[in-house]
Amino acid sequence: MRSPYMRIVFVCLGNICRSPLAEGVMRHLVSAAGLSDRVSIDSAGTGAWHAGEPPDPRSVEAASRHGVSLEGQRARQVADSDYTDADWLLAMDASNLATLTRRAPTRGVRARVELLNGAPRGTGEDVPDPYYGGDEGFEQVYAMVLRACERLLVQVQEEVAP
Ligand code: 4NP
Repeated sequence: MRSPYMRIVFVCLGNICRSPLAEGVMRHLVSAAGLSDRVSIDSAGTGAWHAGEPPDPRSVEAASRHGVSLEGQRARQVADSDYTDADWLLAMDASNLATLTRRAPTRGVRARVELLNGAPRGTGEDVPDPYYGGDEGFEQVYAMVLRACERLLVQVQEEVAP
């Protein structure tokens, strides 16, 4: 039987620091697992301040240090279609999750709206906002996102390629 197609959207506040990193890391893992034709990865922000901008250079550099490309990504605000078309909206922190939950459309929601590090896969920890900090914050975000995405990949594999 043909396995299902899955769409995952990572969500942070600005869509220039954390969720672009998660998008790049997850795309890299999904590609290495041979699932690129079954799983689509995207990201968005709850806010629109940076819409149309490329990821923060500190995210681009952190990704590049680990062989992950964020090429071609542009920030956008989360839309109703994310809730209706995606299978998963994964929030970086509890505040993003609260905003996402509050702004959900009243009809047609299909996506699971969860914390990236939420139970049962993860630790429940927030991925901290690195925007006002230094490079080490971006390295910490990279490490947390990688751990979370590795756990997520296990679950994705169970669902799309059992
Ligand atoms: P992000 O980080 O949510 O990980 O993309 C931020 C980027 C920009 C702002 C806040 C957080 N900002 O206030 O402009």
